Amino acid sequence: MSTPHLSAKPGDIADIVLLPGDPLRAKLIAERFFEDAVCHNEVRGMLGFTGTYRGRRVSVQGTGMGLPSIGIYAHELVTVYGAKTLIRVGTCGALQPHLGLRELVLAQSASTDSSLISTRFRGMAFAPTADFDLLRRAWQSATARGFTVHVGNVLSTDTFYDVDAPDSWTLWARYGVLAAEMEAAGLYTLAARHGVRALAALMVSDSLVSHQSLSPADRQSGFVEMVTAALDAAVGD
Ligand code: HPA
Repeated sequence: MSTPHLSAKPGDIADIVLLPGDPLRAKLIAERFFEDAVCHNEVRGMLGFTGTYRGRRVSVQGTGMGLPSIGIYAHELVTVYGAKTLIRVGTCGALQPHLGLRELVLAQSASTDSSLISTRFRGMAFAPTADFDLLRRAWQSATARGFTVHVGNVLSTDTFYDVDAPDSWTLWARYGVLAAEMEAAGLYTLAARHGVRALAALMVSDSLVSHQSLSPADRQSGFVEMVTAALDAAVGD
């Protein structure tokens, strides 16, 4: 049996899944890190691969952008393919002046301007939270690799281009939110619902404070380094 969005058969996908937004990053991760990588999905061009890393079976699956898109892939991975550990690997925009480009943000919690979660909770505010053990391991492996790592709250926003209120992010910044991205709150809520582990590991690719951004080459090399830390956190010692 496959799903509307994944053509893999049950058993084709590992219980540890890395989740980049960009399907070409899924291909890059498989090529760079996996032995015996097999492509398990091409539906919608949303590439997914399964292979081994340090002797442990692992998968990577592109998710697209935004809470609804990651929600579809994560739901199918967990409920049909038995995924137990989901790690989003992506980029974020800094909302605080002390965050530098190429530094890491591990999302301990994820606030959101999306109505998806408040609708589910009938207007009440659920607090989407990372798995502590994954967070601890990722922090250890990333700091050991020389990354400057920030741990805290992120904003999972539905709006990349806020044309009517371009400074709306400053509200979140005043409450200490570290960075903006577009998926973590959806992933954490889904993981909580199904009793599985989730983490979002994010590299700072741009800053809403300083208006700086990484070159494509630096984005790629920093991302690859971060994935090493995320994979080590996922497979353990
Ligand atoms: N906003 C939302 N998502 C992002 C950003 C941003 O500034 N940078 C990287 N992902």
